[in-house]
Amino acid sequence: MKRRKYKGHTVGNEDMDADHKQLLDLLEAFYTLALDGADEFALMNNLQIIIELLLTHIKYEEDIMDRIGYARAATHKEDHEDIIKLFLSIEKDVKTANVNLIDDTVYLIRTLKSEHFIRHDRPFAAAIDKHRRRCAGNSQE
Ligand SMILES: [Fe+2]
Ligand SMILES: [Fe+2]
Repeated sequence: MKRRKYKGHTVGNEDMDADHKQLLDLLEAFYTLALDGADEFALMNNLQIIIELLLTHIKYEEDIMDRIGYARAATHKEDHEDIIKLFLSIEKDVKTANVNLIDDTVYLIRTLKSEHFIRHDRPFAAAIDKHRRRCAGNSQE
């Protein structure tokens, strides 16, 4: 049986990995801004762009889940909700100049990388693959 090779937090699906990389790059830039003491305006502008990208990505994944009838869709969607909540609490940190902003941002990045991408997006990417292979097999019959 062919074994998948994962690098770092990759999930084995090109489109998802590209989105995740963009999200992480932007989040790391946001973290640096926060660390440098950027003002609320700059932080909020950056955060809005990241949240938009996140919501687009979540919709992309959830549309596929619905289309292929993904068995673990409910728990995966719940985890998306939790991630959105983490983003909203960071937004609140910025608005209230909360000293936890840096820690909360680190926590969010870590949660995405070592929790969501690995525990939820990897099995989902594998299910997409399986679905594609099954469809390809059916169309050859
Ligand atoms: Fe994802
Ligand atoms: Fe996901």
